[in-house]
Amino acid sequence: MSGILYPTQIKYLKQFKKDDDPLVIEMEQYAKEHNVPILYRQSADFLEQIVLMINPKRVLEIGTAIAYSTIRIAKILKKKSVIHTIEMSEDNAAIAKENIEKSGLEDKIDLKIGNALTIMPQLQKKYDLIFLDADKEDYKRLFDYSMILLKRGGVIFVDNLLWHGFAATQKVPKEYKISTRHIRDFNKIFMNQPALISTILPVGDGIGLGIKK
Ligand SMILES: C[S@@+](CC[C@H](N)C(=O)[O-])C[C@H]1O[C@@H](n2cnc3c(N)ncnc32)[C@H](O)[C@@H]1O
Repeated sequence: MSGILYPTQIKYLKQFKKDDDPLVIEMEQYAKEHNVPILYRQSADFLEQIVLMINPKRVLEIGTAIAYSTIRIAKILKKKSVIHTIEMSEDNAAIAKENIEKSGLEDKIDLKIGNALTIMPQLQKKYDLIFLDADKEDYKRLFDYSMILLKRGGVIFVDNLLWHGFAATQKVPKEYKISTRHIRDFNKIFMNQPALISTILPVGDGIGLGIKK
């Protein structure tokens, strides 16, 4: 199992792939060549739709990687809106910085380098949208901080909740057993968090979408 859709469905959906910004295409290419995990294109499209729907003033992203999703969000933020994004890998942060400069969106993007588990408790102001996309073993604690930092009526968007299909199957390869357990444990918490109206949608690798009551 290598995804949550059948190959025929992936092929069918790919035919609708739109031409895009050259920097977005360059980042997708870079991620593929260097094995950097970034949002599936369908998930990034969906995230953009959410941004356009809720028009967030303040966005927090946990897990920047090369700033692919950061730039896609920043591009469509309205004037005076900002995205704060946290990345702990110095190497990824260096590439992210270059891409942010290339995008010309430096005024909208605040890249914070360090572990989100250390940075999040220091953040004071709340956010309208939080995008959680970091190491799976950190998800539970990062989610707890996210719940504190999310405004009432705010949206939390979490990637990888179907985890390449392994979250919902008995046959999990050895190398995925621990991460799958983390995702399954997280999904229980996410779906039962009383302050959220939450769903897990079969988009990309499985998107958790929650709205804070
Ligand atoms: C899946 S990638 C992010 C992809 C990015 N959101 C995108 O779609 O373009 C996850 C990134 O989170 C970073 N990361 C993982 N755990 C983290 C943590 N606790 N604090 C900060 N960054 C973290 C990793 O170094 C990695 O670059």
